[in-house]
Amino acid sequence: MSLGKYIAFEGLEGCGKSTHVKRLATRLNAVMTREPGGTVVGSMLRNILIDPANSNLSPRAEALMMAADRAQHIAELISPALGSGQHVVSDRSVYSSLAYQGYGRQQDLAELKRINDWAIGGLWPDLVIYIDVPIEVLLERLQKRELDRFEREDRAFFERINAGFRAMAASDPKRWLIVDGMPPKDELEKLISAGLLARLGI
Ligand code: TMP
Repeated sequence: MSLGKYIAFEGLEGCGKSTHVKRLATRLNAVMTREPGGTVVGSMLRNILIDPANSNLSPRAEALMMAADRAQHIAELISPALGSGQHVVSDRSVYSSLAYQGYGRQQDLAELKRINDWAIGGLWPDLVIYIDVPIEVLLERLQKRELDRFEREDRAFFERINAGFRAMAASDPKRWLIVDGMPPKDELEKLISAGLLARLGI
């Protein structure tokens, strides 16, 4: 049986990822999942990570909990699914840690790469779809929500993350597909489908 493809969506909060994760996973009949929180243990870690009450969480503890969530996610769900020939569509991946803990929290990128590569046993996404939405639009959308621990960060934090995502995409263009997140959902879905066909032939 051929291996499934591992597709991850990335982007800042409020960019509309979740809608397109659902649409693509449904179209491909893929396993739909997310980080953090794709497993039972991961859900527990997610609760700790996003809880605004944990405002004193150290950046290293945050990075290690994200990596732990991911290690469990890969071992329990992603790797077995790919091995059985199923595609996996995930809302976020290891690249979120490089963007948020690396560029956002300004932790050492080389160390984060090493820790995370170990956590995932070298299983990086085949394709990363980055939904690009201007920061002003995202900040406006966030005003309408109850904010989690990350969403309470300042604009500079999100700007560093955005720059980080763009830098990673630019340095690995074969793996990254950047899509403009501003068109209506159906139009964006078509762009994503066309990109997937061109990149992965599915
Ligand atoms: P979500 O709201 O997109 O599900 O993600 C929860 C938050 O966790 C979001 O603010 C991004 C953040 N995050 C990291 O900081 N590092 C990571 O590795 C992942 C997967 C998410």
